[in-house]
Amino acid sequence: MSTIQIKKINKANLNNRIVIVSGDKDIAAIGLSKEQSAFVKNQIKLEKKSITVNTYDGFIFIYIIENKKTHFLTLEQCRLAGNGFLGAINSQKITKIQVEDISRKNLETLAFVEGLALGNYQFIKYRASAKNETNSLNTIEVLSEGISKSEIELLGIQVDAVYLSRDLVNEPLSFLTAAQLGKEVQKMGKEAGFKVDVFNKAKIESLKMGGLLAVNKGSIDPPVFITMEHKPKGAVNKKPYIFVGKGVVYDTGGLSLKPTEGMATMKCDMGGAGAVAGALYAIAKANLPVWVIGLAPVTDNRPDGNAVVPGDVITISDGTTVEVLNTDAEGRLILSDALVYAQKYDPLFVVDLATLTGAAARAIGRYGIVALGTATDDFDKLKASGNQVHERLVEFPLWDDYSELLKSDIADIKNIGGITAGATTAAKFLERFTTYPWVHLDIAGPAFLDAPDAYRGKGGTGSGVRLLFDFIRTKAEV
Ligand code: BES
Ligand code: ZN
Ligand code: ZN
Repeated sequence: MSTIQIKKINKANLNNRIVIVSGDKDIAAIGLSKEQSAFVKNQIKLEKKSITVNTYDGFIFIYIIENKKTHFLTLEQCRLAGNGFLGAINSQKITKIQVEDISRKNLETLAFVEGLALGNYQFIKYRASAKNETNSLNTIEVLSEGISKSEIELLGIQVDAVYLSRDLVNEPLSFLTAAQLGKEVQKMGKEAGFKVDVFNKAKIESLKMGGLLAVNKGSIDPPVFITMEHKPKGAVNKKPYIFVGKGVVYDTGGLSLKPTEGMATMKCDMGGAGAVAGALYAIAKANLPVWVIGLAPVTDNRPDGNAVVPGDVITISDGTTVEVLNTDAEGRLILSDALVYAQKYDPLFVVDLATLTGAAARAIGRYGIVALGTATDDFDKLKASGNQVHERLVEFPLWDDYSELLKSDIADIKNIGGITAGATTAAKFLERFTTYPWVHLDIAGPAFLDAPDAYRGKGGTGSGVRLLFDFIRTKAEV
């Protein structure tokens, strides 16, 4: 994994620095020469917010905090600005940069550092020229009176978790089979200190997880079901929070085969499982006093002589029969077994994350996460976290009217609705298997990007990690 160090320092000591200021009045505190000062003032007149001063000893990068319509949008602007300096930093082969908070705006500075750190991510392990292409920046030092050491540490943990989650999404099936994903999560558990159990096919059979087994029927690789647990002493909650992630390591569509263009990026279809593993990593590493469980049903989805065929009837672990009319609507089949499994914990609140429908991606693009659910208070809190970290939730209806679209002639339900409201019918399917407050997050839009989008990068974005970590942080109040 590529990584970046973020640490707090107490004394300015580098030639290459970034200063964060709130306006003209802070410029004097930077310590610029007369000429440099004149240059900066001129840039400010031109309404520049990001300014580069080339001193003889190095570079001073200046960011003037730009106030947007809301505080959340101002924070996002700071992340974008942090990312915006990376081109200059890496092209100058700078390895270490100091970020000095002259503005005394703690949250803005943290957001800026976050954008800088997240934007520096690369996935180049399969390239012969990886050594020459590696970004030079590897350390960010933060000089700020108002930001505590532990806040900086939490940011570092969060960035590491997003990196790990992106790595998992970016890994192709040639490496990341279901069993391998189990091993990777085990490694993450060892490193961060959370418990991981990987159920094999025999165990999955004994649990009668008919959804996961049906999707796996066409595969040469066995499925796994991963459980993760962070249960600290003195947790604030008596019942657990549970995160469930769709772990389709590759989605060909099965016999309802996807066309080539639609299939090419389908290594991303375990993005939900990647987000859950990343979130557990951050929560455990930060040792937040909250009991959290992660669940991930994992398999690939392929056509084969033995694959499930459109028209087959399968039985989910709670006994519900499903007529599988489209083998490409596989995510809901494996998730339903996981949602049933979650019932045994009597959870406080369950969130599932899944690259579930093209419909969600078409509706809102990469800009947010489609959310539907039955929870009330915690749904609002999750939305608040979404605004805080700029992984915004858009609530879609979960009206009962949509249930009729899932009626089957021969089984309890079928696995597809009509041509409309695809994200909702998928969620209505999942809702049947929930007996607790629940929210479903369809991350099909933001989880994987074909073109770079600022600090979110290109390829796997780690969508959902920062959202879940922030949500649990608010429970822990740190
Ligand atoms: N993994 C896909 C959804 C997806 C599409 C994720 C685009 C990321 C980007 C999912 O399994 C799928 O194929 N869904 C079908 C459902 C349909 C057959 C009811 C879809 O959205 O077309
Ligand atoms: Zn599919
Ligand atoms: Zn899928």
